[in-house]
Amino acid sequence: MQKLFIAAAALALLGACTQRAAPLTGDALIARGDYLVNNVVLCGDCHTPMTAQGPDLSRRLQGGPNLTTPMIEIPWATDVPAIAGIPGHFTEEQFVAFLQTGVRPDGSTTRPPMPPYRLNEEDARAVAAYIRTVPAASAEEAPTPAP
Ligand code: HEC
Repeated sequence: MQKLFIAAAALALLGACTQRAAPLTGDALIARGDYLVNNVVLCGDCHTPMTAQGPDLSRRLQGGPNLTTPMIEIPWATDVPAIAGIPGHFTEEQFVAFLQTGVRPDGSTTRPPMPPYRLNEEDARAVAAYIRTVPAASAEEAPTPAP
């Protein structure tokens, strides 16, 4: 009897642990995206232009030249595009899909060193919601899109 009680209690506890929290929305979703972008997936390591003093935080996620080169000959992007505010050729839904699949809306994929992210939907939504809030460069400042 006691064993049965312990088993039931353990099952109830397991049920409580696996219960999914409600999906994040609004400011909480943006805060989660801020955490992911700036501490986990680190989009700014490549997409924020670098200066001799470190990343230019006044131009966060506004793209620039790719300062790294591969040691062997492989396809490689020489420019890092601006993604602040979400690029115009993506809807937010398409941006979310790209972060889950690595495929752009036109069916193309990006070259290294862009990582082919496979974020889960919630994280992809959080990253997109946060990047939407990062001010885009003006048209004159925007780097030439990578070929
Ligand atoms: C290690 C460097 C690196 C990191 C980290 C990185 N990117 Fe990139 N990203 C690139 C490069 C380089 C390209 C250009 C690829 C090409 O031209 O084929 C690119 C391309 C893109 C594109 C395509 C833009 C377009 O105009 O079609 C998007 C969107 C993008 N990155 C979003 C992100 C997001 C969001 C993150 C973080 C979750 C991120 N990237 C992290 C290097 C990086």
